[in-house]
Amino acid sequence: MPPYTLPQFVADLRGIAAGEPPVRDILVRVKPLAQRLAASADLRARLSGACDPQQGFGFQVLHEEPDHTLAVAALSWLPGRGTPPHDHGTWGIVVGVEGDEINAFWQRVDDGRTPGHAELRKLSEKTFRPGEAIALTPDIIHSVHNPSDRVSVSLHVYGKNINFTGRSRFDVEQRTVTPWIVTQS
Ligand SMILES: [Fe+2]
Repeated sequence: MPPYTLPQFVADLRGIAAGEPPVRDILVRVKPLAQRLAASADLRARLSGACDPQQGFGFQVLHEEPDHTLAVAALSWLPGRGTPPHDHGTWGIVVGVEGDEINAFWQRVDDGRTPGHAELRKLSEKTFRPGEAIALTPDIIHSVHNPSDRVSVSLHVYGKNINFTGRSRFDVEQRTVTPWIVTQS
């Protein structure tokens, strides 16, 4: 197979997303291409590996369209760190590049009628290894954790940059839901 590059992936993404097909069709078509990009030398050459100690991970934007759609990013996770449960407000594909990443999936169990209040129940947990992919629908709630003693890296592809979707983070103990903007580079 010929080498695959970020510009080729972006061109493929534009073709797939054109005409706004159903999210499930986008996820099915983007997943194998994101896996191919994650394994490519071109992607590895672009990785900064930089982490933000305050939030526990680095968010390196590799591409987005001028309207913030079709966002491609590399996330570098510090050892023992991760995210609170959150949604994305857009579709997403995550592929492991280096190291393991534990993903927990959550279900919202309150009725959503009280502003700022949310109750979550953990549904399942799975360890994703390099090359493995997760498809995320816009309303799925997950949390991420790097269980290892070294930085892990994953490739993230989103329908829209998640700082522009109005997505949320959840605090399981405090039973709260708040907007979530992450630091990006
Ligand atoms: Fe996420």
